[in-house]
Amino acid sequence: MTNNNIILIGFLSFVVVLASAGNLNQDFQITWGDGRAKILDGGRLLTLSLDKYSGSGFRSANQYLFAKIDMQLKLVPGNSAGTVTTYYLSSEGSAHDEIDYEFLGNLSGDPYILHTNIFTQGKGNKEQQFYLWFDPTKDFHTYSILWNPQTIIFSVDGTPIREFKNMESKGVPFPKSQAMKIYGSLWDAEDWATRGGLVKTDWTHAPFTASFRSFNAKTGGGGGDQSWLKESLDSTGQARIKWVQKNYMIYNYCADAKRFPQGFPPECSL
Ligand SMILES: *[C@@H]1O[C@H](CO)[C@@H](O)[C@H](O)[C@H]1NC(C)=O
Repeated sequence: MTNNNIILIGFLSFVVVLASAGNLNQDFQITWGDGRAKILDGGRLLTLSLDKYSGSGFRSANQYLFAKIDMQLKLVPGNSAGTVTTYYLSSEGSAHDEIDYEFLGNLSGDPYILHTNIFTQGKGNKEQQFYLWFDPTKDFHTYSILWNPQTIIFSVDGTPIREFKNMESKGVPFPKSQAMKIYGSLWDAEDWATRGGLVKTDWTHAPFTASFRSFNAKTGGGGGDQSWLKESLDSTGQARIKWVQKNYMIYNYCADAKRFPQGFPPECSL
């Protein structure tokens, strides 16, 4: 082989590595929506759309047992009342585990609600909801989930908004043995999404579109930086989460006494 060929092969494998870094075509499969979900721009952009007849969705090609995932989302702009954009991790079966982000749309100029929940062995009921400190329809923002054996942390643009620690030693189940895939969808939930179902979807604005890009996953095994497996909130993170919860949290199941007349779930007092 000549030196030129070796240089050419080196260059080509470099190009292949670049092309596979963050190619949504490789990381995700469109699962429903009959053409309403699209991977565009050479695998750099994924769009979901919703009209009167159907929404659409995707799922990851891989499954993960613990991961640190980042995704950038730009939500349905304008009058998005009734629409729900989801982005979550889930295992399968009736005793499934799940870590959820759901974005509940609103009338133009009124705030989205960022809804979060965690399911362990089929049981959810751990909702927390937030307003955001920016307009999530103007630009892409990064929504992350850190899931390791010690903790689950939701972060928005690097600011932690919620933590669910592993409290198994105190009898609180924690997701740690079922692998999960990543899912995303855009669908109509006008019965409850906006002001509890008071504001219905205005189909004259359809189709509605939400966009996803810049997916990144750190996973166990296979070398690379594994520090995320031990990551927890440092004191800056704890201060940030307090700031978010004080200023932007609008619902916390642990503060909803009406819902738990027999007493709050055990994790609420830990
Ligand atoms: C929509 O706007 C109303 C009025 O500001 C607000 O009460 C509500 O929380 C907002 N979000 C949703 C999803 O309903």
